[in-house]
Amino acid sequence: MAEVNLRDVRKAYGTVQVLRGIDVDVADGEFVALVGPSGCGKSTLLRMIAGLEDIAQGEIRIDDRLVNNVPPKQRDVAMVFQNYALYPHMTVARNMGFSLKLAGRPQKEIDERVAAAAAILDLSALLDRYPRQLSGGQRQRVAMGRAIVRDPQVFLFDEPLSNLDAKLRVQMRAEIKALHQRLRTTTVYVTHDQVEAMTMADKIVVMRDGHVEQIGAPLDLYDHPQNMFVAGFIGSPAMNFIKGWIEDGQFHGPGNIIAPAKDAGVDSMLDGVVLGIRPEHLLLDPAGVEATVTVVEQTGSETYLLLDIDGQRINYLGRERVAIGPGDKVRIMPDPARLHFFDEKTGQRLGAPASSGLPSASLPSPGLPSPEKPGTGRGSSPHGRKAGQEPGARARAGLGSAAARVLSLVGIRADGYRPELHYMRGSGPASTRTRGGGEPR
Ligand SMILES: Nc1ncnc2c1ncn2[C@@H]1O[C@H](COP(=O)(O)OP(=O)(O)O)[C@@H](O)[C@H]1O
Ligand SMILES: [Mg+2]
Repeated sequence: MAEVNLRDVRKAYGTVQVLRGIDVDVADGEFVALVGPSGCGKSTLLRMIAGLEDIAQGEIRIDDRLVNNVPPKQRDVAMVFQNYALYPHMTVARNMGFSLKLAGRPQKEIDERVAAAAAILDLSALLDRYPRQLSGGQRQRVAMGRAIVRDPQVFLFDEPLSNLDAKLRVQMRAEIKALHQRLRTTTVYVTHDQVEAMTMADKIVVMRDGHVEQIGAPLDLYDHPQNMFVAGFIGSPAMNFIKGWIEDGQFHGPGNIIAPAKDAGVDSMLDGVVLGIRPEHLLLDPAGVEATVTVVEQTGSETYLLLDIDGQRINYLGRERVAIGPGDKVRIMPDPARLHFFDEKTGQRLGAPASSGLPSASLPSPGLPSPEKPGTGRGSSPHGRKAGQEPGARARAGLGSAAARVLSLVGIRADGYRPELHYMRGSGPASTRTRGGGEPR
């Protein structure tokens, strides 16, 4: 086992800069996921750790040894690829032992190590089969077996589950995790799937366009995304982003959305504020903002709603079943403890920096001229207007008093309240229909 340390690692193909200075530390025995959209440089970085790509600039250390110029075979790492390409003419046992044979190990040792790896991977009964006689998941386990027999200091995985169907992926995910918990081998795991990263990793490195956007424990990234990219990338369905402004410590958005902005770190920012709220942190609540239901999806365990508030699309996710359909109205309220604020221009988080220690957002000075007028009714959303179109910040004067009328922390103007609408209480273990009629459909 070993640490892996990356310092200012850069890579260009011709004039195209693919990695722009990557600093990552993987602790001994840690499981680190590199996650990001396709093309962001994950595989390139992993191949550089493996020694399959030159290191143009920067340093890579494995177990405190600078390996920039060490050939792959001498790095003591084992890599598992998406296309694991087993040798079709070799049995499972020979596939797994092949690298040891190439390395000139005695047959007795090869047999022992293959048997041990097969036992770990539940392949013992399949050692005499050929790849064509195996299921996809079994083949993937053989590919992992090839890596395990080498007993490397570091495992490198490049999207090893991408070729498997959804159910098998979930199963293999758990198997790889269990394997890591058993072997405790330092692991770097590349995936574009944030769910894989969230469920498997001790630490996640979110990459975009050759940069590291944020590094942190899975729930740290979920709770304290440092910027809108990470906020939108981690979590499914993705976080809602609602444009608006902050005045007197209150966020204002379309449909008369009002929310406490104490976490934004500014009392006033008259333009370019984005409220981030996850679909699962919206509550169906009679005191909330009115929204029109566009799509209803019920999986049995969860209810997903696509909502519209003055042209703003909002995703809602809850555990309760609801008896509503497209065109119906609901009232939603963001959980005030779960709000995120971002600067629309920089995409950076407003307020306290995330615990990962990355630089905090640079706060624009308050009092920027606002392009937007407050809605005077439901039809006049400030959402979607471009900066500079309407320099009418003054017209917002009435909103302070409107804010005073909101219920508790978040709400809408009292005159918009329509108690006959369908809604459900969003909290509590049981579905509690508080008003509106009918059983769940
Ligand atoms: N051998 C290569 N020559 C030129 N460009 C490459 C080469 N390998 C990768 N790239 C480019 O580098 C970028 C990052 O690729 P890659 O590391 O494979 O991304 P990821 O694994 O995150 O999807 C992509 O834009 C890709 O097209
Ligand atoms: Mg890749």
